Amino acid sequence: MADRQFNKDSVRNILLVAFSISLICSVLVSLSAVILKPRQDANALLDQRRNILVAAGVLSEGKTENAEGQGIQEIFLAEFEERVVDLRTGDFVDSSELDRNYDPIKAAKKPDQSIRLSADSDIALLLRRENLTSIDLRRNPDGSIRQVILPVRGYGLWGTLYGYLALQDDYLTVAGLSFYSHKETPGLGGEVDNPNWKAQWPNRRIYDSTGEPAIRLVKGMRRDDYSIDALAGATLTTRGVENLIRFWTGELGFGPFLKKMANRQGAVSL
Ligand SMILES: Cc1cc2nc3c(=O)[nH]c(=O)nc-3n(C[C@H](O)[C@H](O)[C@H](O)COP(=O)(O)O)c2cc1C
Repeated sequence: MADRQFNKDSVRNILLVAFSISLICSVLVSLSAVILKPRQDANALLDQRRNILVAAGVLSEGKTENAEGQGIQEIFLAEFEERVVDLRTGDFVDSSELDRNYDPIKAAKKPDQSIRLSADSDIALLLRRENLTSIDLRRNPDGSIRQVILPVRGYGLWGTLYGYLALQDDYLTVAGLSFYSHKETPGLGGEVDNPNWKAQWPNRRIYDSTGEPAIRLVKGMRRDDYSIDALAGATLTTRGVENLIRFWTGELGFGPFLKKMANRQGAVSL
C-alpha cells in the first residue's frame, strides 16, 4: 500500500511532471516573447533606418556611424522624415490616420487594403500592391527636400528582393539603391550587394524623355543615363531587379507620386 502511494514512476506522476515542465516552459517562452517584443521592434526600426541611410548614401554598408561619429537615430531624426503616400493617387496622406503597426507588405495581402495586379502589369511578380505605403524624405538644413527614399521589392530567382531606391530632388535621378533582404545565391544573384555593382546606380535616370521608366540592366558596358551592368551568370536576378525598378517607378508604383512631386518643385516636367 505504502509502495503504491510513493511510486514516483507511476504513469500519473510521469504525466504530472511532464505537464508541469511544459507549463513552466510555455510560461517562460511567452513571458520572454512579451518582454523582448519592444526591444525587437526597436531593433527592427533601427535596422530599417540603417538600410534607408545606406540607400541614401549617408552610411556605408556595415557601418552604424557616419564620418562625424553620428549614429543611425541621430542622423535619421536630424535629416529624415517618414511620410505616408497613397499609391492610387500619388498624394501624401495624414499618417495619424494609419495604425501605428501598419505594414505595407502585410497590407498588400489584404484585399481591402490593396489591388490585385493583372498578369500584364505584374512585372515584379507581387500578385497584389498595397494602397498606402511609407516613404522617407531627406531634407537639407534649410528644410528643402534633398532626396526621396522609396521602398521597392520584386521577385528574383529564389524569392523576393526587398530594398530602397533613393532619388535626388528632381525625382528622376538615382541617388542610390540598396537591398536589405533577398534569397539570391552569393556570387551570382547575390552580387546585388556588391559595392562595385551598386556604385553604378547614382546619377542614372529612371525616366526617359517621354517620362517612361527607362532603367535597363544590360550585358556589356553602355555609357548612357539609363544602363546598369547585368549581373554575371545571373540573368534571372538581373531581370528581376530591372522589372522591380520599372514597376515601382511606373504608373502602378510611385510614378504618379514622383510626377506630382516633380511638378510641385518645378524641377522637371514629365
Ligand atoms: C546553385 C545555383 C544557383 C544559382 N543562383 C542564381 C541566382 O541567384 N540568380 C540567377 O539569376 N541565376 C542563378 N543561377 C543560374 C540560373 O539557374 C540560370 O542558369 C542563370 O540565371 C542563367 O544566367 P546566364 O544566362 O547569365 O548564365 C543559379 C544556378 C545554380 C546551379
